[in-house]
Amino acid sequence: MLDSSVKIAEQFSPDEHAVLFHGNCLDLLKEIPDRSMQLVVTSPPYNIGKEYEKKINVDTYISQQAEVIKDCVRVLSDTGSICWQVGNYVNSSSIIPLDTILYPIFTDMNLVMRNRIIWHFEHGLHCTKRFSGRYETIIWFTRKTKDFVFNLDPVRVPQKYPGKKYFKGPKAGQYSCNPLGKNPGDIWDIPNVKNNHIEKTEHPCQFPVGLIERLVLSMTNEGDWVFDPFLGTGTSVIAALRHKRRAAGAETEKKYVEIAHDRIQKELNGTLRTRPMNKLKYDPKAGNNKLTIPPWNTNEERTQQPRLLESPGEYHYENS
Ligand SMILES: C[S@@+](CC[C@H](N)C(=O)[O-])C[C@H]1O[C@@H](n2cnc3c(N)ncnc32)[C@H](O)[C@@H]1O
Repeated sequence: MLDSSVKIAEQFSPDEHAVLFHGNCLDLLKEIPDRSMQLVVTSPPYNIGKEYEKKINVDTYISQQAEVIKDCVRVLSDTGSICWQVGNYVNSSSIIPLDTILYPIFTDMNLVMRNRIIWHFEHGLHCTKRFSGRYETIIWFTRKTKDFVFNLDPVRVPQKYPGKKYFKGPKAGQYSCNPLGKNPGDIWDIPNVKNNHIEKTEHPCQFPVGLIERLVLSMTNEGDWVFDPFLGTGTSVIAALRHKRRAAGAETEKKYVEIAHDRIQKELNGTLRTRPMNKLKYDPKAGNNKLTIPPWNTNEERTQQPRLLESPGEYHYENS
């Protein structure tokens, strides 16, 4: 039973459905039995000086992460998955992809990488001395077993050409597509939670719920436990409860715990508004959004802006 009668517990117990722990994840982990979590999914601090973190020496950061990862592996079930969602650490204008420096921690613990998912999005800082960063990664590990849970059907997405048929061989003329949809692949184009996003809270780095729903549906079954050591605004718990899983998470900052509590309660009441998983991206041109019309294309507002795509290799100024 997962509905508004479910209570949000502050401490872990295997009998609970939703656990929101205010404190250090290492303290919550102490309460969780070995091999009891089916999915550990998280986005840790990136050590880039966000409001909830102090920028520290990268070696100290790695050893802190290693301590948490080690305990997450202890609680991971035999068929379970760990998904660590990270971006880049930036040091003196040099970028260091965090997944590359965290990867050995997982493999040293005898885990196997199953996918390195690229999460692509459109919004973020506009860089002037390098290309703007528009992706982060989710590194997915399991134990060395063939029996890890992976349910593809609940996360299939519509094909681009569902009417396509085999054009030769014994199946010639038959439809070639799986009617349930296709594998979503390892590049996920899902809007990040920035200002106009329906899920935006005051947390600077929220997951979109749809991103985690895909992991929950594919890597767990109903009733399984999902654990997020760095819970933030409660997104992983929300995604898990939505699909009849149990979930626990820790968050050190009181104000995020309060936001998480509010969001999880709304999810249980059925009133939390989120962007639907698999919703196609909005095309502002198709939606006739006026902001898609460049002012330098109108008579009133001619400017000196180069018309880049007009004739390739021959950029020129409107008034020249
Ligand atoms: C990148 S954010 C996670 C955001 C989350 N994915 C969401 O959707 O809201 C990392 C969070 O971890 C919290 N945090 C940092 N160190 C922690 C620790 N040792 N234990 C628990 N939470 C911690 C931070 O306060 C921050 O909210």
